[in-house]
Parts: sequence; C-alpha cells; structure tokens
Amino acid sequence: MHDYTGQTALVTGASKGLGEAFARELAARGAHLVLVARSADALDKLAEQLRSAYGVRIDVIAADLTDRRSPQVVADTLQERELTVDLLVNNAGMGAVGPFLSRPYEPNARSVDLNVTALMGLVHHIGRSMLARGRGGIINVSSTAAFQPLPYQAGYSATKAFVLSFTEALAEELRGTGVRVMATHPGATDTGFFDGTTAVMNPKAVAPDRVAARTLDDFARGRSTSFPGRASDRVLTLVPRLLPRSLTARIAGVYNRRTGHDRVADRHAAPAPQGS
Ligand SMILES: NC(=O)c1ccc[n+]([C@@H]2O[C@H](COP(=O)([O-])OP(=O)(O)OC[C@H]3O[C@@H](n4cnc5c(N)ncnc54)[C@H](OP(=O)(O)O)[C@@H]3O)[C@@H](O)[C@H]2O)c1
Repeated sequence: MHDYTGQTALVTGASKGLGEAFARELAARGAHLVLVARSADALDKLAEQLRSAYGVRIDVIAADLTDRRSPQVVADTLQERELTVDLLVNNAGMGAVGPFLSRPYEPNARSVDLNVTALMGLVHHIGRSMLARGRGGIINVSSTAAFQPLPYQAGYSATKAFVLSFTEALAEELRGTGVRVMATHPGATDTGFFDGTTAVMNPKAVAPDRVAARTLDDFARGRSTSFPGRASDRVLTLVPRLLPRSLTARIAGVYNRRTGHDRVADRHAAPAPQGS
C-alpha cells in the first residue's frame, strides 16, 4: 500500500471543489502540498488551515493554467523553491455546457487548454523528473464523461476522452519505471462545477471528500483506474462498449435533454440595487 506520509503532492485546481478535497485528504494523510489554481487568496487561506491542522509544509503557486507557458512556469517555480514532487494530481478542469453551436466558443476553447493542454504539459514537465529519479505518481482526473460522446457537453466529454486515452497509453509506457499513472473517473460530484450557468448538478452527486479519499485509496492499492463515485456510475461506463457509438450518443443526448442541458443559459450577477 502506497503511503502518502512525508510525500510532496502537487494538486491543481486546489482552491475549491474536488481539488480542495484532494488537498485536505492528502494533508490529513501526512503529505506536504503544492497548491495550484488562479485564486491566490483561497489557496493561501486553505494553506494556512492545513498547516495548522496537520503541521505539513504547504506551498502555493497561483497560476492560470490555460496559459500555454504555465507548466514551464510551475516547473521553474518548483525548482527555485527546491521542491520535488512525488505525486502530481492533475485535477483542475472546466467544461462548457449547452448546444455547441448556440453557446459561446470561448469556454470550450479554455476547457481544451485546461483539461488537455495544461494536464499534458504538467505531466511532461513534472513526470520527466520523476522518471529520472525512478519513482513518482500521477493521478489524472478524468470523468465518467470520458466513456461516451455527450451531446450538450460535446467539448467537455471529448477532453475527458483525451485524458482517459492519454493516461492509459502513458501508464503502459511507464510500466516498470517506478512511475505510476492512474486516471480517476468521478461521476456527478457535488461541487460548483456548473456555477455561472443555469445547469443543475445531479441531486445524487457524491461528496467531493469521498471522491478524493477513494481515488487516493485506489492509487495506494496500485490500481490503474479508479471509479470513486457511485457503483452505478461505473456500470454506465460499460454500456457504451456494447452498443454502436451512434446509439450511445443518441441515448446520452436523450439523458442530457432530460436534465435540461440543451436549454442552459449563463447566470449573470444581479444588477446592483438603484441608489445603492
Ligand atoms: N463535479 C463533477 O461532477 C465532476 C465529475 C467528474 C469529473 N470532474 C472533474 O473534477 C475536476 C475538478 O472539478 P470540480 O467539480 O471540483 O470543479 P470546480 O469546483 O469548478 O473547481 C475547479 C478548480 O479548477 C481550478 N481552475 C479553473 N480554471 C483554472 C485555470 N484557468 N487555471 C488554474 N486553475 C483553474 C479552479 O480554481 P480557480 O478558479 O481558483 O482557478 C478550481 O480550483 C475537473 O477536472 C472536472 O472535470 C468533476
């Protein structure tokens, strides 16, 4: 069983949601942390809490990972601070919801920059030094969305299919090197993932702390894949293997229309009251 005590883990998207849950769980298991996201204040606050609760070392790197240079900047910052990462948790991610052609393009492009390009860049920059040392671990946060095309989340499900395929291939390349790579595939998880839009989270969404703990347990057991959500989430990932892809897309479209993803709009902040 892999032991996280005294290891240094870098968690992206650690300012809230699942990334914050990974940070809390890893600190509770005795890991030192490097927290990465854009919201420096939220990261500093979390760092302070975790230092005093667990006595572990916490570093913060505020970075916008959609910037193509960011993986290099993160790697340079680690070197300047003389930090060696034992575990990389590539968690930061976002997704556009709604009919692709009637919704803005920009969030789709940013989700590719974040979910695909930044993830791959961090694996390359940080994974290389793990390979040179002959030890290390990488957890890439994918999704059950990776296993089938998802109408009304077309770009998002495609980014997660990339993470699935990339991680499986890399795990095989790295077999026997001492560096392990695992993809985790949460189902609906109770975070602010849909914030800013009228899309609503599945009421049966699982708590992020449970998803983080199960993922870390699976990695510690040496698993190559983790399904940390509900058992039914995993069963649903098997169905597309049995059906023609066009039928799978049609069924997923029916489901996402039922949840209203075909009618999603942006939520705008309420205007300030007159005279205030
Ligand atoms: N929630 C679900 O139902 C669900 C299901 C399956 C998989 N997932 C995956 O789980 C991961 C975490 O999602 P979540 O649900 O926790 O979402 P979330 O609550 O929206 O959190 C997203 C995190 O990513 C960070 N982030 C966003 N844009 C960034 C950028 N440009 N640069 C750096 N960091 C950025 C955010 O921090 P800042 O805003 O401070 O930058 C935040 O910490 C994602 O990969 C998502 O695809 C989620």
